[in-house]
Amino acid sequence: MDKLDAIFSPESIAVIGASTQKGKVGHDIFANILYGGFQGTLYPVNPKARSILSVKCYQTIAHILDPIDLAMIILPPRPAVKAVEACIAKGVKGIVIVSAGFKEVGGEGLEMEKKIQQLCQDADIRLVGPNCLGVINPSPGVSLNASFSNRMPQPGNISFISQSGALCTAVLDFAADQGFGFSKFVSIGNKADVDELDLLRYYHADPNTDVVMIYMEELSCDAQTFIREVREMTSGLNPTPVIAIKSGTSDAGAAAAASHTGSLAGSDAVYDAIFSQSGIMRCSTVNELFDYAKALACKKVPRGDKIAIVTNAGGPGIIATDMSENSGLKLAKFTQDTIRELHKYLPPTANFHNPVDVIGDAARDRYENTLATVISDPGVDSVLIILTPQSMTDAMGTAEAIVNIARSEVKPIVCAFMGVVDVSDGVHLLQENHVPVYQFPESAARAMGALYANNRWLSRRRLPQYEMSHDVEKARAIIDGYMAQGIDTLGELDGNEILKCYGFNTLEMALATTADEAVDIARKIGFPVVMKIVSPQILHKSDAGGVKVGLNNEAAVKKAFDSIIKNARQYNAKATLDGVLVQQMATKGKEVILGVSRHAASGHVIMFGLGGIFVEVYKDVVFRMAPMGRNVVRRMIKAIKGYPILTGVRGEAPADIEALEKNLVSLSAMVKNHPEIKELDINPLFVHVGGEGTTVADIIISLAPPA
Ligand SMILES: Nc1ncnc2c1ncn2[C@@H]1O[C@H](COP(=O)(O)OP(=O)(O)O)[C@@H](O)[C@H]1O
Ligand SMILES: [Mg+2]
Repeated sequence: MDKLDAIFSPESIAVIGASTQKGKVGHDIFANILYGGFQGTLYPVNPKARSILSVKCYQTIAHILDPIDLAMIILPPRPAVKAVEACIAKGVKGIVIVSAGFKEVGGEGLEMEKKIQQLCQDADIRLVGPNCLGVINPSPGVSLNASFSNRMPQPGNISFISQSGALCTAVLDFAADQGFGFSKFVSIGNKADVDELDLLRYYHADPNTDVVMIYMEELSCDAQTFIREVREMTSGLNPTPVIAIKSGTSDAGAAAAASHTGSLAGSDAVYDAIFSQSGIMRCSTVNELFDYAKALACKKVPRGDKIAIVTNAGGPGIIATDMSENSGLKLAKFTQDTIRELHKYLPPTANFHNPVDVIGDAARDRYENTLATVISDPGVDSVLIILTPQSMTDAMGTAEAIVNIARSEVKPIVCAFMGVVDVSDGVHLLQENHVPVYQFPESAARAMGALYANNRWLSRRRLPQYEMSHDVEKARAIIDGYMAQGIDTLGELDGNEILKCYGFNTLEMALATTADEAVDIARKIGFPVVMKIVSPQILHKSDAGGVKVGLNNEAAVKKAFDSIIKNARQYNAKATLDGVLVQQMATKGKEVILGVSRHAASGHVIMFGLGGIFVEVYKDVVFRMAPMGRNVVRRMIKAIKGYPILTGVRGEAPADIEALEKNLVSLSAMVKNHPEIKELDINPLFVHVGGEGTTVADIIISLAPPA
């Protein structure tokens, strides 16, 4: 028995603050529970009313003789505290506080919320809210609509968690139109007690929930715990797909054109990282959320990425083809047998290759025979059927044929019945029989892409971790030295020392304060060398004309020294110039960026991407939360658009991706061992050809006491 059962499947409910006045929340919630056909017993509580909607009213919860599982409280903060005390005395098992005016307004509201939180914690009672829409469980044995939406959704296998109450009513309305069924539905409001992780655990264990949708504004629990637990839920022994929509995507920080991790790792990047490491599919619109949920709810898995498209109109077939490819799918190539078979059923003007065009005058039989044929092709993993209403089209008959085939078929089928009025009978039939149906081919293709992405997540490879040893003590001593002196930016030389402790390959270098000194150093290192300005005020050295590469002789070094100093003075007359760094020139390689940024709420986020102008212009970077091991890192590297540049295009040798993986895993270990690291940027790291490792060419580390 889970404590949340008392909230989702109570046998008795007391509505405290139930009202006789129609239109008041206290009235409407009571009415919704009553008219929603709640299967348990319902008790209104209001000291001033004799009855509400003909149901005898109780003065206080203590006046109810029977035991109460769930108390719904609709009262302002102060009386709500009193009500919670009374509920605890009565021995209720769960509480939902719908009313607002708590933490979100601050002051006394916040104080009252804290009090209630403590009361419930001490009494070991779970609390949903305050400031929420309520709870809905449409399953026939419960039939609970404890919310202020008067719409009871159909029962189904999708559960929903929403941080916004207002969105819930819109979702319910939308769901009704889409023939969408819910298992459990909750709005969590201020999350004084029950939060998204509690609910995910509950839904994951719920045999009636096959898909979870979340609308999230902010994560309230620890990011690392969330990732660890949710990853198990989405891909462990009993996987439940989770789809999320997260508000606040436009981040002022992310918009800034800057090339360091701190400015790119806005809160949205952090959520991207949390979601992808947890295996949560992220949607950008509510529409997409529904589209994916609908497809996942059918519980069929495409074994591979090969899709067959069947259409009665050319244009939509092309749109579906494009969107399939954008969604990670490929068009299946039919066997000769399949094509021969299709010739039996289709007119000569048809297209027998994928996407199959059954021609505008296709009635039921052509769709039926074509679907049956292509779905049995061994090279086909999934099918998308497009129907546009034309004069010969039989939407109902075609839907019937699809339902029949879908019933006995393991390969997933999605449909796009384009239109509203002419196809509605067919659409309803498909919906009733749980065949995902969409209004547009692009939505159908995208949803199939989501099914395949989920399958890839489930069947991802898990390789053993790398064995690596690090000189943690030495790195700590360097960092402690800076912290003790209150210096927050590490010089290039010490930055390199720390990286060396973590197995990074660095270049020989030394600081020169005169041109002659620079020549001496260059002679020792060996030509060619690179020279760079060293100044605490100049972080982006190239911008100041402060970097010269490929210096091949002593004269070039001398000249470079003078011009670097001159450029730096021109760039910033007030900058302190410590000198010029003379550095060994790295051998050729692909330039990438590795970065770290520490966030107060969620810890260290690690960035990877292509370096140089790719960071600034394309922002082709990905983020993951530390700690991360080899497997997370492997997928992280693959996630950038420019990944083929690393594997080698046009006959180029592949870069040493394994060495890069090890660097990223080490970086994760580094920030775990040294929480003082606030920001770090290695840009560029040269990734040499396979087997030749990587080289650090530029490093900035900044420190701050850990939170
Ligand atoms: N040691 C080196 N070997 C080869 N190329 C280098 C080396 N150091 C810097 N570069 C090149 O010069 C560019 C700018 O140097 P960098 O030290 O990253 O300065 P900043 O990023 O401050 O402008 C690098 O992106 C890289 O292409
Ligand atoms: Mg750089």
